[in-house]
Amino acid sequence: MTQLALTHFWHPICTSEEVTEQPRRFTLLDDFVVAFRDENGVAAFRDLCIHRGAALSLGWVRDGNLTCPYHGWQYDRSGACIRIPSRPADAPIPATAKAQAYQVQEKYGLVWVAMNEPAADIPSFPGDVWGKPEWKSFVGYREVWNTSAARAVENFMDFSHFPYVHNGILGTEETAEIAPYTVEKRDDGLFYYLEQEEPSDLYGAGGTQRVRYEYTLVVPFTIHLKKIEIGTGRETIISQLTLPLTSKTTELFVFIVRNHSHDEPDATFGDFTTKIMEQDRVVVQSQRPEELPESLREELHIKVPDAASLLYRQRLASLAKVEVFGPYGA
Ligand code: FES
Ligand SMILES: [Fe+2]
Repeated sequence: MTQLALTHFWHPICTSEEVTEQPRRFTLLDDFVVAFRDENGVAAFRDLCIHRGAALSLGWVRDGNLTCPYHGWQYDRSGACIRIPSRPADAPIPATAKAQAYQVQEKYGLVWVAMNEPAADIPSFPGDVWGKPEWKSFVGYREVWNTSAARAVENFMDFSHFPYVHNGILGTEETAEIAPYTVEKRDDGLFYYLEQEEPSDLYGAGGTQRVRYEYTLVVPFTIHLKKIEIGTGRETIISQLTLPLTSKTTELFVFIVRNHSHDEPDATFGDFTTKIMEQDRVVVQSQRPEELPESLREELHIKVPDAASLLYRQRLASLAKVEVFGPYGA
């Protein structure tokens, strides 16, 4: 899908701590964003001065206005140029003298940016568990992968690779066969689930546990996996919030949200997730092309187990068409 359609969605560009009053450059959708913080919160613009194209992220903030490092034009947080120092203070400023301001929100400890009018809200967590005291959350994995966001999401959605990429941890070759499953189409994405015996060391050396995996996909790039350990009441949501840096590089923020083991160190769960993700990374970075093929005729889909990823590809393809007419419903 094209980058233009993706500008109509919220994307997490960094953590909240990473945005300070010192302007800083971030990458999003093959372009650069400058973000800074003042007493009114975070502001984000395209990292480009309309005057001569200098990077605003090399500038500084004074009195809440972002100053371009090249000729000192000053932009307020709406992006309007309010001062051109080489001109008399009372000289009119052209209405077109603007930085391209983006919509910004802070949520889940991340800074989210929408480059164009967003077609949907920032995705919530399954069961709206975020912030509830019985659920403890942290970022368990954050890395840049050399792949597209869609490939990274499709990998997270996919469970038939467990016996191979995560052999002995999330699956075994003897149990590679996948039973038919149903994918529920939702307005904002997909939902499906399956159950299996998980052969994980998390359950003691050589231990196993019957688990139900519930997958909630929110287009374009948010995927939640709720792992329910049957008979124990323990539930863990592993959420990949996926940042499309460029069409071939992707940053993953993987949250781990659990209703159990609050006294255990987060690292127990973070280390486990990191091990899994690094196993995935090797295979995903090997995939060619890096972007999902535009035509469903490319690559070969097997109904079970690929039903979910096939529907995901169809959904992304339909989003790409939406751009012609503007955001959803327009
Ligand atoms: S390039 Fe920014 S003020 Fe000239
Ligand atoms: Fe995996």
